[in-house]
Amino acid sequence: MPVPTLNLLGAGRVGKTLGRLWHAQEVLQVQDVLTTSLASAQAAVDFIGAGHPAHSLERMRPADVWLIAVPDRQIAASAQALAAAGLPPATAFHASGALAAAELAPLQAAGWQVASAHCILSFAAPATAVQQFAGTPCALEGQAATLAALEPMFQRIGARCFTLPSADKLRYHAAAVFATNFLPVLQATAEALWRDSGVPPELLPQLRATLLRNAVDNLLALGPAGALTGPAARGDTALVQRQGQAVAAWDAQAGAAYAALSELAARLARDGRL
Ligand SMILES: NC(=O)c1ccc[n+]([C@@H]2O[C@H](COP(=O)([O-])OP(=O)(O)OC[C@H]3O[C@@H](n4cnc5c(N)ncnc54)[C@H](OP(=O)(O)O)[C@@H]3O)[C@@H](O)[C@H]2O)c1
Repeated sequence: MPVPTLNLLGAGRVGKTLGRLWHAQEVLQVQDVLTTSLASAQAAVDFIGAGHPAHSLERMRPADVWLIAVPDRQIAASAQALAAAGLPPATAFHASGALAAAELAPLQAAGWQVASAHCILSFAAPATAVQQFAGTPCALEGQAATLAALEPMFQRIGARCFTLPSADKLRYHAAAVFATNFLPVLQATAEALWRDSGVPPELLPQLRATLLRNAVDNLLALGPAGALTGPAARGDTALVQRQGQAVAAWDAQAGAAYAALSELAARLARDGRL
């Protein structure tokens, strides 16, 4: 059976990673790649090891599968432009965790099969993400027939697929924000507070490494409730309040975050879950 063709609309961190994995496993044949410039499209093609940089949407060839891997705010416009390009209807999906397949409504109206497929991995650097991808959970959402077609494609590069109702995508993606995106924010806040409270700057790298490793080891071994320590977990509300005021005096937003997270910590300590 011939290998289905794949066109990429957008080939940044996610497009490059998935393109290279599908090409390497001979799941999909990477064909045309469109980004914001020929130079970045060529760089993506070089990374993937297959495909051709496209000058414009109008000059892209028909393909069996289209991955729309542009930033979230560009997905609807890209779908609109692709629908207007008059190419034969095929399968199209985007990679956003927060947005539903309904972003691709113009394509669906033109007879395309549409879906979204969100791989729960921080694709910070494609070369690393390619190594880390095996075992990544992948949330599929959209038309049932499209999901049935996409699932084996993702399984063959090692993803663990599950389906998600469209109405739950925003909450689902917020969870990923809590799980990974907020960690650097918490660390940056802690380090700024340490600096401003007199901790010698040369000790910060050591503090970062020790406490992060310690927290991850404890979380993996004991789970969130078991790993929870600190004044909120101990029910020391007076100290939580005084500490919260000290943080709020330093930075109002950090103070609000401290208060909100302390309430969640108290609930976790009390109930063992949120
Ligand atoms: N990064 C993650 O960890 C992650 C994880 C899961 C899902 N996602 C989702 O994956 C999608 C892509 O994210 P990303 O992190 O890969 O973004 P990214 O690294 O910023 O890459 C975006 C790509 O889209 C191209 N692009 C922008 N506007 C375009 C347009 N109008 N037409 C054609 N190409 C256009 C960019 O071109 P240039 O190369 O020329 O700039 C770039 O190649 C998003 O929906 C995001 O939510 C991201």
